[in-house]
Amino acid sequence: MLETVADSRAMDFIPQLAEPVVRLHLLVVDADTAVRSACAEIASSLGYAVESTGDLGHARSLLRAHAVDILLVNLPADSNQGLEMVAEARLLYPDTAVVAMTASGSVNAAVEAMRCGASDYLTKPFAVDELSTVLERAAQRHMTDAATRQLRERFRLSQGLGAMIGRSAEMEKLYRILSKVALSSHPVLVLGESGTGKELVARTIHAFGPNAQKPFLPVDCGSLVPTLIESELFGYVKGAFTGANRSKDGLLISAEGGTVFLDEIGELSLDLQAKLLRALQEKEVRPVGATHRVPIRARIVAATNRDLAAMVEKGSFRKDLFYRLNVVNLRLPPLRDRREDIPLLAAHFLDRLSRERGRKFTLSDEALRTMMRYDWPGNVRELENSVERACALSSGPVLQLGDLPTQLQQQGLEARRAVSPRGGAADADGAPAVKTLAELEREAILEAIRTLNGDKLQAAKLLGIGKTTLYRKLKEYGIADPLRED
Ligand SMILES: Nc1ncnc2c1ncn2[C@@H]1O[C@H](COP(=O)(O)OP(=O)(O)OP(=O)(O)O)[C@@H](O)[C@H]1O
Ligand SMILES: [Mg+2]
Repeated sequence: MLETVADSRAMDFIPQLAEPVVRLHLLVVDADTAVRSACAEIASSLGYAVESTGDLGHARSLLRAHAVDILLVNLPADSNQGLEMVAEARLLYPDTAVVAMTASGSVNAAVEAMRCGASDYLTKPFAVDELSTVLERAAQRHMTDAATRQLRERFRLSQGLGAMIGRSAEMEKLYRILSKVALSSHPVLVLGESGTGKELVARTIHAFGPNAQKPFLPVDCGSLVPTLIESELFGYVKGAFTGANRSKDGLLISAEGGTVFLDEIGELSLDLQAKLLRALQEKEVRPVGATHRVPIRARIVAATNRDLAAMVEKGSFRKDLFYRLNVVNLRLPPLRDRREDIPLLAAHFLDRLSRERGRKFTLSDEALRTMMRYDWPGNVRELENSVERACALSSGPVLQLGDLPTQLQQQGLEARRAVSPRGGAADADGAPAVKTLAELEREAILEAIRTLNGDKLQAAKLLGIGKTTLYRKLKEYGIADPLRED
């Protein structure tokens, strides 16, 4: 319900993609002649204008000669040249959608490629329909990127959206809405579970708005007592209460056209809700103890992890204030709903820590795989803390499963057990942990689909079964929505 408001507002802002008048240009780069010509042939039959080469030097000159919409590039196991090509293509043409092909199932090679700007990857050998699905996704990505970039350029946004990391569809959608609301002066309500990045979003809205050079002033409505919040927000005059030796402007005044971030707005008392509503309606405040009113020009961004609509129903949050704040709402997706961002976020935090500590840290494949599977109830903050903790504990440059917090390790160990059921696994009470084959199968299916963030085609491949078999089994086990199943 809430989302519809923001979505419909966002929609008229997203540029409509024109009907393609020219065919998308695809470049296939792979030294393996058989793979290369098969890809080229299939892509041509799908309507792409295809060029292909086995030589990276030649690929480079083709790239320089003209723009490529989609680059399908093999990453040789024994050199970095494939990755360099990925980075170079993205540098030359930021809208080029890059798909990396990897020979073995090395998670890290694919992750590296994604970090260099690839949007997707294919693990060899792949089937015709996988290639066509990935190309279709890449085409979509190219068109969205082109549209988003035009948008960003218009808003002076360069790479990514400020400090925000994430390339999932959910985040791209968020960036589009953000770029728009940043330019307006409407109040924004940021909703999301704990640790999803609500404050970061508020700061980003401010940073990309026209008054970025003005102050950004956060107020935690949950941690201060009501009288303090009132004097913080509205200010007070000399003698208003004991200790008020001089008058002080409230944050709504001293923001001077900047942003006041009302964090944990759901915790605001009903009395203060009424006062805030009046201030927002009348665009002026009366400092505590004052008889006069002072005009305010602050932009309001509010955030909460509580269900404000439900609080309105219950009468613990004012409906009129809710509507006033909820002109635009941004609902931040929990991390478990955008798992493809986990490696990017982990890499981002690792980079930062590596720089801070002056030594390079990376994640082992097992640690990364476990992180991809974990549900992250504390979202990005929990991920950030886990990476920090692992760096502090690790004895070497590669962070292992054992360096991660216990709750993650447990999941990783369960996965190990599921892989080798004869490994003598035992419950905490010493009884052997035996699961039926059907249970194991059900879990494996759910895990594969979750790890791949709902991509059933890839999941079937990972599991070594056909797509039809996967669909049959989902039905058999009564799994309607694999991403939400226990
Ligand atoms: N998309 C993102 N990219 C990079 N860092 C992020 C992202 N989202 C969150 N973070 C980081 O995660 C941490 C938590 O984010 P933030 O404080 O904004 O979350 P929050 O939703 O306000 O959490 P809480 O409800 O607990 O107050 C911060 O260190 C923030 O920088
Ligand atoms: Mg917060």
